[in-house]
Amino acid sequence: MASEIREIAQRFERIGAHSHIRGLGLDENLRAKDVADGLVGQKKAREAAGVIVRLIQSGKMAGRGILMAGPPGTGKTAIAVAISKELGKDIPFVQTSASEFYSAEMKKTEALIQSMRKAIGVRIREVRTVLEGEVTGLDYNMVPNPYNPTQKIPESANLTLSTKDDKRTFSVSGRLALQFMQYGIQVGDIIVIDKETGRISPVGKSEKAAKKYDLGDSEIVEVPSGRVEKEKEFTYVVTLHDLDEANARRGSIFSLFTSQTREIDGEVREAVDEQVKRWVEEGRAELVPGVLFIDETHLMDIELFAFMNRAMESEMAPIIILASNRGFSRIRGTDISAPHGIPLDLLDRLLIITTEPYKKEEIRTILEIRAAESGIMLSENALNRLTEIGEENSMRYAVQLLAPSHEFAKLRNSGKVEVEDVERAAKIFADVTQSSSYLRKWEERLISA
Ligand SMILES: Nc1ncnc2c1ncn2[C@@H]1O[C@H](COP(=O)(O)OP(=O)(O)O)[C@@H](O)[C@H]1O
Ligand SMILES: [Mg+2]
Repeated sequence: MASEIREIAQRFERIGAHSHIRGLGLDENLRAKDVADGLVGQKKAREAAGVIVRLIQSGKMAGRGILMAGPPGTGKTAIAVAISKELGKDIPFVQTSASEFYSAEMKKTEALIQSMRKAIGVRIREVRTVLEGEVTGLDYNMVPNPYNPTQKIPESANLTLSTKDDKRTFSVSGRLALQFMQYGIQVGDIIVIDKETGRISPVGKSEKAAKKYDLGDSEIVEVPSGRVEKEKEFTYVVTLHDLDEANARRGSIFSLFTSQTREIDGEVREAVDEQVKRWVEEGRAELVPGVLFIDETHLMDIELFAFMNRAMESEMAPIIILASNRGFSRIRGTDISAPHGIPLDLLDRLLIITTEPYKKEEIRTILEIRAAESGIMLSENALNRLTEIGEENSMRYAVQLLAPSHEFAKLRNSGKVEVEDVERAAKIFADVTQSSSYLRKWEERLISA
């Protein structure tokens, strides 16, 4: 669980720059609208991405790849994020950069395979017997705590659950009664209890109870109909990596205490694959291939490419989207030069989408959208100046200047960013070309000295 929370936090961080993106902004015929879902221009790439979303949804992309190629700041990551939004929450989308494969904690190929397996979902269907209804009676039988007699704990409880058509009373154990207390379950709550495990899921309040107690913020739900005890189908999506970790942990009690980032045995993965295949055959599960987005592809070396190429042939491979802003470059770990620094056998499997530099008007609109998303007001002139900066330097730089400019406006006690604020921010923050040429000058001086 802890690892999931960490994962989301990391992802949130990276998506921050793309929080204005809600989708690809296409119409029913997969044509890109000028401005929609937070995306501006770049129509060919967006339409291509729309086709890919369709292919993914109909299961026709499994094991294949896409390459997003274009200069920095032309929306490669933005479009990948939009693809994930279109696919919906159920389909795993893992965003990473090739640089993250190189760490001290694990082999690079292990890091890559873990990312790939995080991008494959398994939708599991389970039929379980549950007790479902509105709590219409709940009486605790309290006894002194054997370890601390000043405290009372429930020894058992009588629970009455009602549906529109049925009503049943159960005597429940102390353990379950304690859970009721911890969840703060009260009369009027609608709950589901898994009969086998005793797990409680509060669903909401009945309308009658909500009115009676004026419970503002709890969700009002309808009282269920039918019997209290019933079979219910549950579906949930886990990733192959979740299953790998769960199975690896089962191996040894000590692994409970090790950190989450660790290598997983090949045998564990094979066992998980076997298990999943069995579930699929039995109709209890279904594979949901997701997407692995790898930024800065040129940082992958020949070994990683070879490994990925092989892994893509497996039945359980995610759709891979690579992003590159390099033209011809050397394949890392070799002396061979290739398009985008990607080996030809891998290039053969990739559909290529190119992104183009933005026109002035597009830069302007993107800046407007970003400013609105961050709650920043811009004067007409400030927007003009930022647009110029976006054209002359890079769009990413112009977008990045929004936040510091806003701070300077606040220092003037103004809610609105003016040209002076933009200039002040541009003076103290460098864009990449400036900062790298600055350092190059220093390097030259050091060498000649
Ligand atoms: N077509 C677009 N519409 C709206 N915002 C965009 C568009 N293209 C890029 N952006 C935004 O501009 C910034 C830079 O784009 P990014 O996707 O990081 O470029 P790349 O990955 O090609 O270097 C990001 O904040 C991104 O969300
Ligand atoms: Mg990017």
